[in-house]
Amino acid sequence: MKISVIGCGYLGAVHAACMAELGHEVIGVDVDQSKIDALTAAHAPFFEPGLPELLASANASGRLRFTTDIAEVSDADVHFIAVGTPQKKGEYAADLTYVNAAVTALLPHLRDGALVVGKSTVPVGTAARLAELVASAPVSASLAWNPEFLREGFAVKDTLGPDRLVYGVPAGEAGERATAILDEIYEVALSRETPRIITDYATAELVKVSANAFLATKISFINAMAEIAEATGADVTQLADAIGHDNRIGRRFLNSGLGFGGGCLPKDIRAFRARGEELGLGASLAFLGEVDAINLRRRDRMVEITREALGGDVRGKRIAVLGLAFKPDSDDVRDSPSLDVAMRLRAEGATVVATDPEAVETSRRQHPELDYVATAQEAATGADAVLVLTEWKQFRDLMPADLEVAAGRVILDGRNCLDRDRWRAAGWLYRSLGRP
Ligand code: UDX
Repeated sequence: MKISVIGCGYLGAVHAACMAELGHEVIGVDVDQSKIDALTAAHAPFFEPGLPELLASANASGRLRFTTDIAEVSDADVHFIAVGTPQKKGEYAADLTYVNAAVTALLPHLRDGALVVGKSTVPVGTAARLAELVASAPVSASLAWNPEFLREGFAVKDTLGPDRLVYGVPAGEAGERATAILDEIYEVALSRETPRIITDYATAELVKVSANAFLATKISFINAMAEIAEATGADVTQLADAIGHDNRIGRRFLNSGLGFGGGCLPKDIRAFRARGEELGLGASLAFLGEVDAINLRRRDRMVEITREALGGDVRGKRIAVLGLAFKPDSDDVRDSPSLDVAMRLRAEGATVVATDPEAVETSRRQHPELDYVATAQEAATGADAVLVLTEWKQFRDLMPADLEVAAGRVILDGRNCLDRDRWRAAGWLYRSLGRP
């Protein structure tokens, strides 16, 4: 199939490379020349395991190219919309400027029979509106909504081998045609019996936002239990293990700690709530406000236990921050709880020295004022306290002997990822969120 992918950010770049890997002829379009230059040279503009190799092989095969000129998509059969839907400035709602602009720019270049496929996460009701826009094109074209569930760090794996495929299609013949086209695109995944749900636009849009709302709720649930555990002397990690054995609950996404961040969960639950309000159904999604609040309170608590461990005040104290990315195996610091805590401690007068295996450069772009170093040992040198805020393997594996360079013997575990007994046995003050 001849495919275009409009928007070459996280979602689009990975999708374009994976579609080429599956044998399709792909053109990726983005307005950002530097992104296009990087992708053309097979450089992934962000850290994602497996993506550079995929870009290199797809570029070499001649099946994948990138451009800033939307007119070059005119011979594609299918156009994926993969542009961002960030949170609006000063509001909770999603900003649909890029989605609207992408579809509008595409209209004059659609060939007869083309299918436009939405991948971006959008408020429910967007696809129906965009379908009208597509119907206004000079040729006969239609729209499908096919949400993407990829996780950063597993983006290539999740795109090539999704755990389900969801097609939101119009009723009747147009829907059957869209389904047949999508089946052809995803032939490899379907041959492995990947579940496929064919539905209407609204359900397809809601599958994506409700999945993210559920995941966020699960994390905030266990973090609320951490608050209770802290007050009562219980251990939230044992609690999670014990309730997780009930397979109606399940242990995954019950890791208590600093909470969720990243480019999806925070903005998606806020946009969902805002959409609920617009629909006059604010009460149905009001709980997401609590989910958000619980999540943000974990950061306050981390700052609080740091203060407590350092005698009530962090002013003038040297603090090593290990981990800045919103989760391990990523260089993404969008809405990162770790970077936020580092900045708050700095604002309270601490000297913060931070490190991360991949996210120093992305953090520096947001906060050039923070001190960055390359390794945990450098960060810990002379530190009064060491904070582990993102659970990278290299931090989980640290031994007390590795951090002998620290001035103090205080280690604070923001992700419940360290062996508490190991650190205590070596004479360190160990504290974490939700464990005695
Ligand atoms: C998420 C969804 O998982 C994915 O399906 C969707 O397409 C995009 O949003 P991602 O943002 O890549 O993916 O990260 P994810 O692995 O879901 O983690 C989100 C956040 O939750 C991270 O900050 C992580 O540290 C935190 N988290 C996750 C917890 O605090 N506890 C857990 O048990 C799991």
